[in-house]
Amino acid sequence: MTDTNPGTDVLRGEHLSKSFGAVRALDDINLRLGRGEVLALLGDNGAGKSTLMKILTGFHQPTSGTLHIDGEPVTLQSVMHARSLGIEPVYQDLALVDELSVFRNMFLQREITRGGALRILDDRAMRRAAASHLERMGVNVPSVDVEISKLSGGQRQAVAVARAVYSDARILLLDEPTAAMGVRESALILDVIRRLKEHSDVSVIIVAHNYAQVFDVCDRINLVQDGRITFDRPTRETSIQELTGLVVNEYRSASEAVTG
Ligand SMILES: Nc1ncnc2c1ncn2[C@@H]1O[C@H](COP(=O)(O)OP(=O)(O)OP(=O)(O)O)[C@@H](O)[C@H]1O
Ligand SMILES: [Mg+2]
Repeated sequence: MTDTNPGTDVLRGEHLSKSFGAVRALDDINLRLGRGEVLALLGDNGAGKSTLMKILTGFHQPTSGTLHIDGEPVTLQSVMHARSLGIEPVYQDLALVDELSVFRNMFLQREITRGGALRILDDRAMRRAAASHLERMGVNVPSVDVEISKLSGGQRQAVAVARAVYSDARILLLDEPTAAMGVRESALILDVIRRLKEHSDVSVIIVAHNYAQVFDVCDRINLVQDGRITFDRPTRETSIQELTGLVVNEYRSASEAVTG
């Protein structure tokens, strides 16, 4: 379900900028995400997509600008703070703990405990829940007891996405969730997003390089070019051709600037 009324935006960024020393990674970004909306961030390498996502996850602080959640201004102090507000990230460079098992990673900082105030880790319950989540998502791992470091890149990615999806998040931030994945696994992740869209009002921002994939699942598209959002349009009002054209033109003018 897409709500286009800005009054009910779950997330809004106003005039967000971010510099790393002399590098201006983001330059006056205005971004909005409606409840239940799936927004795709497209753009070339180095455009600023991950930097923007990392601001929304509380990993980076913006150099200037403000964030609003449910219309209220917030300063995200950390990734944990953002998670406590229902913002759940899946980074490009992941965020799993290599030395821990699949099931421990699935419940990282959200461990199921028993024994009341004693808070004894309930490994059995976590194993069972992790296995059933992964099975429901169609993700194949040798076992939920296997260490993350023993998994393939695609399997790790799938575990990270599964963890985010089953976290009761209100806002899912997926930075290239299908990057390291084979065709079958990518299709599964996109299916999960489609199902989420039908059965919940979770809002999603997804960064992707494969336009064809996201065109299928997203409601709206923002193009990030050189630290700015240069294009914001409902998916049904644009096309892969139009977007490709915009990016090709960017190359042309950049190379003309170089060659004079
Ligand atoms: N921690 C950092 N320190 C310094 N510069 C950074 C840092 N993170 C990103 N940058 C710079 O900011 C710019 C945007 O990078 P970013 O990672 O956001 O791009 P991206 O759009 O995610 O690219 P890609 O599609 O390759 O993942 C780049 O010029 C990059 O070198
Ligand atoms: Mg990136």
